[in-house]
Amino acid sequence: TILVLDFGSQYSHLITRRLRELNVYCEMLPCTQKLADLEWTPKGVILSGGPYSVYWDDAPHVDPAVFDLNVPILGICYGLQEIAWNFGKNVLAGEKREYGHAYLKVERHGDGETGGHVDKLFQGLEDDAEVWMSHGDKLSHLPDDFVTIATTKNAPWAGIAHTSKPYYGIQFHPEVTHTPKGKEVLKNFAVNICQAKTNWTMSKFVDQEIARIRALVGEKGQVIGAVSGGVDSTVAAKLMQEAIGDRFHAVLVDNGVLRLNEAQQVKETLTAGLGINLTVIDASERFLGRLKGVADDPEKKRKIIGNTFIEIFQETALKIAEEAKGSDKAGEIEWLLQGTLYPDVIESISFKGPSATIKTHHNVGGLLEGMHLKLIEPLRELFKDEVRELGTNLGIPEELVWRHPFPGPGIAIRVLGEVTPEQVRIAREADYIFIEEIKAAGLYRKISQAFAALLPVKAVGVMGDKRVHEQVIALRAVETSDFMTADWYPFDGAFLKQVSRRIVNEVNGVCRVVYDITSKPPGTIEME
Ligand code: XMP
Repeated sequence: TILVLDFGSQYSHLITRRLRELNVYCEMLPCTQKLADLEWTPKGVILSGGPYSVYWDDAPHVDPAVFDLNVPILGICYGLQEIAWNFGKNVLAGEKREYGHAYLKVERHGDGETGGHVDKLFQGLEDDAEVWMSHGDKLSHLPDDFVTIATTKNAPWAGIAHTSKPYYGIQFHPEVTHTPKGKEVLKNFAVNICQAKTNWTMSKFVDQEIARIRALVGEKGQVIGAVSGGVDSTVAAKLMQEAIGDRFHAVLVDNGVLRLNEAQQVKETLTAGLGINLTVIDASERFLGRLKGVADDPEKKRKIIGNTFIEIFQETALKIAEEAKGSDKAGEIEWLLQGTLYPDVIESISFKGPSATIKTHHNVGGLLEGMHLKLIEPLRELFKDEVRELGTNLGIPEELVWRHPFPGPGIAIRVLGEVTPEQVRIAREADYIFIEEIKAAGLYRKISQAFAALLPVKAVGVMGDKRVHEQVIALRAVETSDFMTADWYPFDGAFLKQVSRRIVNEVNGVCRVVYDITSKPPGTIEME
């Protein structure tokens, strides 16, 4: 196991991700972790970057015992300065910030007086490498007993190594993709220098997370969480179910603007298929009642749906908590599950302790004030592709694991203009046909997100020899890697013809179908 000590850099979790990609098991703990409290001995330690200057009075420092472990240590950015600070304290100068690409020149020392170990970190790399820098401080001179192993134009000590011990420090970030050979540097450290095993797999993550959840929640603790039928909340829910069984309470709120048959399907998959203790609340009437007459402001629709969701989730949580109280096997509901992923974690301030990592910007967190729930976020270290792998590992059906994202306000923001039950029906049926055809054509995974929207206009058509004046469906399908920018998907004509024919024939109230060929930007993915 490699121990990653986190100084709160925005890239810290990327270190653990890269190690996982190398099949190396690692644990990330706050930088202030006392080593005496650790029940295992790491094979190596990585000190992450962080937003501080070691000069600051409140700058965090590692337990000095880390240098008595006799295992290899790699300091990245702030971690490099932390090593230098431990080998002579006054070696640092706060200088101007450096941010962006830099060219690293590797210096090799051969087997001479250092015995060759100092060259191991950059073994197999070219002498020149592109790297990513993001730091304020840098070394002002080399600490005693260290040699330079790499330089850049602005940083004469961009890489240093101890002459006799396996301690390395690098100013650049090997964990980001902007450092193309960064993964090899981490591999050199973890696999070659620390000799960590490369046998970590996702199923080990499952065992480890289940153990962690059980320890956190205790023998009787109960957890509640909302599920949507999307991959993140389902994977988080399945993990909870594996860990604490029925002491996890999943809640699916049917807001009346889910996709066709969705509430029913999610219910079947989660309960019969995955054994999750699920309560489905049909609140369609309350949602649709409040959406009535709201026609010209999409943000107002979002607010109504968001607030009504919280209201209903709160009512349900209180009811479940009341019922759960009577049971002697379980204690009170103290925890709220959220399927937050790493990209949702905007600021990493984790060294201050678990409470500081709680985010109030996300979904319902922090809103159930009356219940004083603590957040539990088992996916917080994972990226989307890892969550999919985890989901597959937990036996979640492929169809759900690869599901396109679906917005919280659902079909309400895909019915442009006023949302009425009839408009929802039309949008739903058209959407169902579109997705069915995409799947049949084997395109579902190629497309990042696809849906049908109902435009608030009528057009003239001729159907069965009769003039009709009916509504228009707009199809939208995009490819994107991050949903920040997106391109429309170039379907072939025959495919679009088939979808259009089916929608006009099968969905009452529609006489025309158009395809949205706007990229993002300037368009957004949703039409409202
Ligand atoms: P836009 O339309 O902003 O969408 O290009 C980017 C991604 O975000 C989803 N989206 C939402 N998700 N609540 C959500 O939970 C919302 O209000 C919302 N608006 C957009 C959208 O489906 C796409 O995946």
